[in-house]
Amino acid sequence: MILVTGGAGFIGANFVLDWCMTHSEPVLNLDKLTYAGNLQNLASLQGNARHVFVRGDFGDFNLISRLLAEYRPRAVVNFAAESHVDRSIHGPEDFIQTNIVGTFRLLEAVRAYWNGRDDADKSAFRFLHVSTDEVYGSLTPTEPAFTETNRYEPNSPYSASKAASDHIARAYHHTYGLPVLSTNCSNNYGPYHFPEKLIPLVIHNALAGKALPIYGDGRQIRDWLYVKDHCGAIREVLAHGRVGETYNVGGWNEKPNIEVVQTLCDILDRLRPRADGVSYRTQITFVKDRPGHDRRYAIDASKLERELGWRPAETFETGIEKTVRWYLENSDWVAGVTSGAYRDWVSKQYE
Ligand code: NAD
Ligand code: TYD
Repeated sequence: MILVTGGAGFIGANFVLDWCMTHSEPVLNLDKLTYAGNLQNLASLQGNARHVFVRGDFGDFNLISRLLAEYRPRAVVNFAAESHVDRSIHGPEDFIQTNIVGTFRLLEAVRAYWNGRDDADKSAFRFLHVSTDEVYGSLTPTEPAFTETNRYEPNSPYSASKAASDHIARAYHHTYGLPVLSTNCSNNYGPYHFPEKLIPLVIHNALAGKALPIYGDGRQIRDWLYVKDHCGAIREVLAHGRVGETYNVGGWNEKPNIEVVQTLCDILDRLRPRADGVSYRTQITFVKDRPGHDRRYAIDASKLERELGWRPAETFETGIEKTVRWYLENSDWVAGVTSGAYRDWVSKQYE
């Protein structure tokens, strides 16, 4: 089987759901269920014997060692993290503890387990570390997209903590020979995206008749990738990636935030028009910029295409339409997550 950490979060849950649809190999899913982890994301796997869920901390060395000894996975895919830049600005401590210390402790437990295996199992084993394009810092409008050899220049506590975790994973390969693979992906969107991030927040606020907050001038650029395409890339790297290598994953879809929000408004105007016939665009509101806001991210994913033949299946237009439809059809899921801790966050960030 494989061990997935953070498999109740946005990307991890999509990965586990897709894995269980396409593979007969079981998944051990370890998640702490922080505010971002949600078992509702995995509801369709209830009763599926190939999915084993354990609530726990990936930084708990004893727990991870016990699970590794009991389930003897052939691979670990590490999604678990604190992932929201704005939260990292308000409170960096959790990001340091989870993303840096947690990843380190997970690697320690995995290293001890891996050392105890026979030579064939050792060479077949994989540790895939899931990371972000944000570690490379911010691009000017004319600079080429990030390649795997770009310098690390993280600017937020989130990206700095992810950068540190990437370095630790790399060192475990270089120093101990642990078969590590790393992926650095651009901004994801799609089903089960927690509505603190731009795309689900805008869909949710639009339908609730609330302001659609655009930070600063809204001209910041992100390179958007449909989450199922990210999951496909991870499966490809896990199966065929060269050990010790990093692969950039991106959608070839650079968009300024304001255009993303206008597109969402236009789709909603078509699929769920406002009762008063006025466009959702009228709800767009420019608000104070994020401190240290990175201007532009762009991923050059040509290494992944050249070596493993991966390209995204969705364009931004097809992926965003699917995403809006998913949110319209899954209002119960949205209602479930937009309570409690989420409401506290919204009042802290925007009021
Ligand atoms: P998310 O915040 O939706 O999910 C993170 C999950 O990790 C949650 O289920 C949470 O409960 C779990 N978790 C947190 N701390 C934990 C701990 N100590 N032990 C076990 N589980 C813990 O994040 P996401 O958007 O799904 O991102 C997953 C990974 O992909 C992260 O490593 C992130 O840095 C990376 N990434 C995300 C994006 C993006 O656009 N969302 C892009 C590139 C890379
Ligand atoms: P986000 O979804 O938080 O992802 P990241 O910061 O990891 O790229 O934000 C995407 C972009 O949208 C980013 O440039 C910040 C911007 N943004 C807004 O303009 N308003 C918002 O309310 C949020 C949450 C984000």
